[in-house]
Order: sequence, then C-alpha cells, then structure tokens
Amino acid sequence: MEGKRVTVPDVVEAKGKRRITMVTAYDYVTARWVDRSGIDMILVGDSLAMVMLGHEDTLSVTMEEMLHHTRAVARGAHRALVIGDMPFMSYQVSVEQAVANAGRFMKEAGAQAVKLEGGATVVPQIRAIVEAGIPVQGHIGLTPQSIAQLGGFKVQAKSAETAKKLIEDAKALAEAGCFSIVLEAIPAPVAKIITESVPIPTIGIGAGPHCDGQVLVLHDLVGLFDRFRPKFVKQYDEMGERLLNALRAFRREVEDGIFPGEEHSFSMKPEELRKLEE
Ligand code: KIV
Ligand code: NA
Repeated sequence: MEGKRVTVPDVVEAKGKRRITMVTAYDYVTARWVDRSGIDMILVGDSLAMVMLGHEDTLSVTMEEMLHHTRAVARGAHRALVIGDMPFMSYQVSVEQAVANAGRFMKEAGAQAVKLEGGATVVPQIRAIVEAGIPVQGHIGLTPQSIAQLGGFKVQAKSAETAKKLIEDAKALAEAGCFSIVLEAIPAPVAKIITESVPIPTIGIGAGPHCDGQVLVLHDLVGLFDRFRPKFVKQYDEMGERLLNALRAFRREVEDGIFPGEEHSFSMKPEELRKLEE
C-alpha cells in the first residue's frame, strides 16, 4: 500500500521531535481506515472484550480471541505498526508463558510488537520478551486487568506517594527495554514528569497533553461505543447516530416499498421472460 511501514525505531526516534498517534482497531475493515489515516500505531487492545464482545471488563478475553482479532487487523494494516495486547493471564503466570504468548502474536497473527500491563513486577517478563526479539510497549497507571485490585476504573497516582511509585515503574520499564509506555488515567503533571524522566515515548490516554503521543479507543473516538464515555475521551464524530439513521432509512424504504428500486434490480431479456411466463 502507500509508503513503508512505521517501525519501532521510527516511534522511539519521534520522541521530542513530533507527537505520536495510536488508536485501537479490532477488525480488518476498521484497520484499513486507520491505516489510511496516517495514524502511527494500531493497538489491537484487549478492550475488544468490552467493545466488540460485550463483556463487563477485559479479564475474560482469551489468547485465541486476541489472535483472531489481531490476524484480521494485520490483514488490513500495511503502514501502521500493529501491536497485539497481551490478555489477562497470558504473561502473569511465568516468564516462559509470557515469551511463548508474545511469540504467538508475532508468528501466528502478524503483529509487530506486543503490549502488556504493569510496572516493576513485570520487568522479568519484559526483559525475556525483548531478548526474544519482540518489541514491548508498557502500560501503567490505570491497568484494567487489575480492576479487582483497583476497585474500578479510577484515576491513579493522585497522591505524591503513589505518583513517585509510578515514576519508578516507568523508569523500570524503560530500563527493561520497552520501546514506549502507555500512561492511562493519571494526573497530567505526573505524566509530564514521567515523559521527562524516560528516554522512550509515553503514549497517554487520560494523561494530559505533555505525553509524547496520544491513544484513544477507535469506537470512542468516532462515537460508536455508547455504553459509557470516560472523561478523557474526545468524540470526533457521531457514527453511532449516523449508523442508526442509515438503518432506519433502510427499514423505512423496505417497509414503504421504495427499496430496492430499478437501479438495484436485475432485468431479463424480454423473450426469456415471455418463455418463462408461458
Ligand atoms: O485495550 C486498550 O484499548 C488499551 C488502550 C486503552 C491503551 O489498552
Ligand atoms: Na488494553
């Protein structure tokens, strides 16, 4: 397709030079649109558990489901860097499992990198995955796979003490070899300090304007996901409303006998029709 693929070094080198963009995609058709838009990275987020599959949280999505969606995205994305989001329990149990599952995103699904949640505690996994030649994006702050511990989707690192811990986590992730870090739902000043403290790009979602880049869930950004809307989402379109209008128009035209018209119908040679009607 148009131009060459965004690479991991491209993303790292963008820090301090230009702002980086990332959005989620979970299927082929949306991956094609995102790819065409010039967005740098496509995250096949485990948020698909909620957005695509209707679960209450991200905990139940499986490796097989994540690979299934990542394959579809990889078929549609030729320019953007595709990142597979490692699901709950695919990397927490052991370093060996983490490497094997990260490898599946690359070998079986066509991802160019993986993402996983957590700070200093997941450094052994990150080191081992990176040593296997697989780029890793970190993710700290609000980490939805820890929802049971966090007690809900809440802003993190609001006290100086928890903010300090988060800054240390970010440094640990950079040292472990992450090529970028997602910062989710943390105060803007904390994200600013982290961004200035690590040599790799920070990609914010609900983390203020000082990050090196920004990420949003596609279905939030275009107004397709209507179950709830976090404060940090900016909705750039009302695609849900537009979809509803299109569907209602179709329904009305069918019910009123307007659709299909002649231009949507196939004709038959008159002599064949005559023979048919004999
Ligand atoms: O799963 C997801 O969509 C994410 C982003 C919000 C960073 O992890
Ligand atoms: Na995620």
